[in-house]
Amino acid sequence: MKEFILNGKKRSVDVPDGTPLLWVIREELKLKGTKFGCGKGICGACTVHVEGNPTRTCILPVESVQDQKIDTIESYTDGELHPIQKAWIKNNVPQCGYCQSGQIMVAISIIEQKETWQEDELRQQFSTNLCRCGTYNDIEVAMIDGARQMGKLK
Ligand code: FES
Ligand code: FES
Repeated sequence: MKEFILNGKKRSVDVPDGTPLLWVIREELKLKGTKFGCGKGICGACTVHVEGNPTRTCILPVESVQDQKIDTIESYTDGELHPIQKAWIKNNVPQCGYCQSGQIMVAISIIEQKETWQEDELRQQFSTNLCRCGTYNDIEVAMIDGARQMGKLK
C-alpha cells in the first residue's frame, strides 16, 4: 500500500510499484486539475508540490513519495483563491488553459522561495514549463502582480 498526505489528508492507494504519481492523482484519486502533457518530464503540465517543491509527476513513481506531503492545484481551490490565482484571472493569463495549473504551481513555489524579491530578480526566475499557446509574457506579468499582492516585492 502506498501512503502519502494529499492536500492535507492522508491517502492510501493500492497500485503497483512504478505507477506514476500523476496517474494516481488523476485516475485513482480523481483530481483532474493536474494535467498530462508530454509524459516525459519536459513540459511541466503535471507539476505538483512535493514537500513544497515543484515536481513533475508523470515520471515520478508513486513509491518515491511514500509518507510525503503532496499538494495539487486543488489545495488552492478549497475556499478563497490564492493571490497568484487571482493575479492569473485579473491578467487574463490562460488561453486554452491546459498548462496553467502547472504554471501556477511553479509560480507559487518560486515566489515562496524568498521572503521578498526585487522585481527584476523575480523576472529572472521564470518557469521552464512549456505553454503551447505562448502565454509567457502574461505569466510574467501575473507573477509580478501576484507577488506584489502577497507583499513579496521590495
Ligand atoms: S506531462 Fe509531465 S512534464 Fe510533461
Ligand atoms: S494556455 Fe494553452 S498550453 Fe498554455
